[in-house]
Amino acid sequence: RLGLSTKFLGTQIHYEESVGSTQKIAHHLANEDAPEGTVIIAEEQLSGRGRMDRKWHSPKYTGVWMSVILRPNIPPPKAPQLTLITAVAVVQAIEELTGLSPQIKWPNDILINGKKVTGILTELQADADRIISIIIGIGINVNQQIEDYPDEIKNIATSLSIESGKKLQRAELVKLLLHKFENLYLLYLEKGFYPIKLLWESCAISIGKTITARTITGSIHGKALGITEDGVLMIEDEAGKVHHVYSADIELS
Ligand code: BTN
Repeated sequence: RLGLSTKFLGTQIHYEESVGSTQKIAHHLANEDAPEGTVIIAEEQLSGRGRMDRKWHSPKYTGVWMSVILRPNIPPPKAPQLTLITAVAVVQAIEELTGLSPQIKWPNDILINGKKVTGILTELQADADRIISIIIGIGINVNQQIEDYPDEIKNIATSLSIESGKKLQRAELVKLLLHKFENLYLLYLEKGFYPIKLLWESCAISIGKTITARTITGSIHGKALGITEDGVLMIEDEAGKVHHVYSADIELS
């Protein structure tokens, strides 16, 4: 248990040497009634998945590839809030471990010096009005060196080691992350999303800037105003119309 002193997060840790995707294992365990807080960690993923069906490069012994099962009693439209809680927890853990100051690019990318160091993938198992489980996948690039990256992501990806110039203890990062995550999640269950929203906005890069959001139905260009109480991005276009964006890739422009 990594010497964890969390209350429920990571009380059950499934540690694997090599898997297809921790996300897939988490779905399977969630269907078999795994308790809230169950964590799956792997040293390597052979078919790691990102958002929008992209591949997530997860080489052996270099990163933190993990999935967490949560079962919050909230309506399904509020699920994006969990992605934002996770992002704040990752930022806090990275800050504490490395002294670096990561920034969040809505909804789920964590960047250092403009390059991606962490991705978060939130998947839902839900009825019409009830969440059965939320599976949160977190991929943190820790000890990769620039030459380890395939050419197509060299310019957009980085690792904590590249940015800090040090080799880092991945177990230490996992421990910090589970503590931060549990504290924020408990704060959220007790006080609601507002305190998280403030923390999130204080480390978000895109708020107040002009951005382009590419959604499956088209692009929206305008000023990112902030996020709603549900964690949805608000963009004001040139005509002054405010759009609510649930899922997109955004670009600062
Ligand atoms: C993204 O930025 O598109 C999200 C990437 C999420 C990657 C993590 S690694 C652990 C978990 N298992 C997966 O297959 N994906 C997530």
